[in-house]
Amino acid sequence: MSLTTPARGGRPVLDPARLAFLTAQEEQRFLADRPRSRALLERARAHMPGGVPMGWMTAMHGHAPIFAAEGDGAWFTDIDGHRYLDMNQADLSMNVGFGPPAVVAAVADRMRRGSQFMLPTEDAVWCAEALAERWDLPYWQFTLSASGANAEIIRLARHASGRDKILMFDGKYHGHIEDSLVIMADGKVKPELHGLTPDHAAHARMVPFNDLNAVERALKPRDVALCIVEPALTNVGVVLPDEGFHAGLRELTGHYGTFLALDETHTQIASPGGLKQLWQLEADAVGLGKTIGGGVPIGAYGLSEVLAQPLKTPPSMPGAPMESVGGVATGGTLYGNALSLAACRAALSQVLTPQGFARTAALGTQLADGLAGLFAAASLDWQVHRLTSRSGFTFADHLPRNAAEARALAQPALYRLLRLWMANREVWESVATAGPTVSFAMAEAEVAFYLERMRDFLADIL
Ligand SMILES: Cc1ncc(COP(=O)(O)O)c(C=O)c1O
Repeated sequence: MSLTTPARGGRPVLDPARLAFLTAQEEQRFLADRPRSRALLERARAHMPGGVPMGWMTAMHGHAPIFAAEGDGAWFTDIDGHRYLDMNQADLSMNVGFGPPAVVAAVADRMRRGSQFMLPTEDAVWCAEALAERWDLPYWQFTLSASGANAEIIRLARHASGRDKILMFDGKYHGHIEDSLVIMADGKVKPELHGLTPDHAAHARMVPFNDLNAVERALKPRDVALCIVEPALTNVGVVLPDEGFHAGLRELTGHYGTFLALDETHTQIASPGGLKQLWQLEADAVGLGKTIGGGVPIGAYGLSEVLAQPLKTPPSMPGAPMESVGGVATGGTLYGNALSLAACRAALSQVLTPQGFARTAALGTQLADGLAGLFAAASLDWQVHRLTSRSGFTFADHLPRNAAEARALAQPALYRLLRLWMANREVWESVATAGPTVSFAMAEAEVAFYLERMRDFLADIL
């Protein structure tokens, strides 16, 4: 019995019974082979809800969480001794690979000599200079996460514009911050999760990606402080922009007096200056995190002259907390700490180099070509997208143009099977439907390994 009937000009048709059978089989094997993780999870439940340090870890992978032991380059092992080729790198926060020697040395040295002073170190200057050159924005600040970076960009834009609304795109994720934890439901913007007030949703507007008419309608009242956008959506699978979308967005935001921020938290893996540099995009701000820390928590944001202005002046509000420079709420005792910046400098200077990006982009092409070849050989019409090192695929004969289409084309049950099947055979697939990504620690052999597994997966299920 076949799982899918390769469709002509449409999506493969699932055979739900076979899918359920294979998934149950893989899940059983996954659990049976990991007794230590299972036992530790049971012990952990006593003092951590769900047995995990953050509740989302129970939901992220579509199967019981396992416990990691150690990582080395492109691979990590769990406490049951299984090794995995990591095709997601902790949602790209480890895209440099595990334990890059330059970062390990810089971090060890910084720990020995003091990791946090609430004072700048020379590494901060070096990093700001490097990021300014790569992202073509003059001023930089450092946080501990991309969420923290985006939160502060939003505040600075509100302050500078005197407006309070934020424009985002359906399918976005800009971090764990109230302002962006909103969704479109029944034509209205609503809080995305429990525990959030409707107030933030009232300040948010959301429109479909690639829809400039909708953007213009949202901006027309001239009350939008900031439009924040990923150059390509990366949290509903990958959705690429139409030709001219970003130029149009820049023109419209400029026309209606709205600041434009690019969230390159994920897309920074495309080139030394992310997709901004690769596609020559203009913006008033850029938000970063994850990869540039080389495995150490960091966030960073780049600002135009206008947005940075208030941060140049000392507190102007009597009674304001000390970190609220210029009256704008910025913060974090550990933001801009010496350890993050030592790691960032080592990562930028020795791993995330122009040569390194050229290498991962070439491996991304190997991955995309390989996937396309495998799907064609299996008579599947699944489409492959190319985004330098983050090549991937959609289970359909066309790529989505916005989040609604991406959701309609996603096949969560099939994806869950793929994840389990791969985990049982030494590959750590991406979270949700993010798709595979090449890391800086990979070489052609690792990409070939992933492609072999994908070939075997297709042979097994078809
Ligand atoms: C585009 C984008 N922005 C911001 C974030 C938030 O990053 P962090 O959770 O590290 O704060 C994420 C996380 O996945 C993201 O995908």
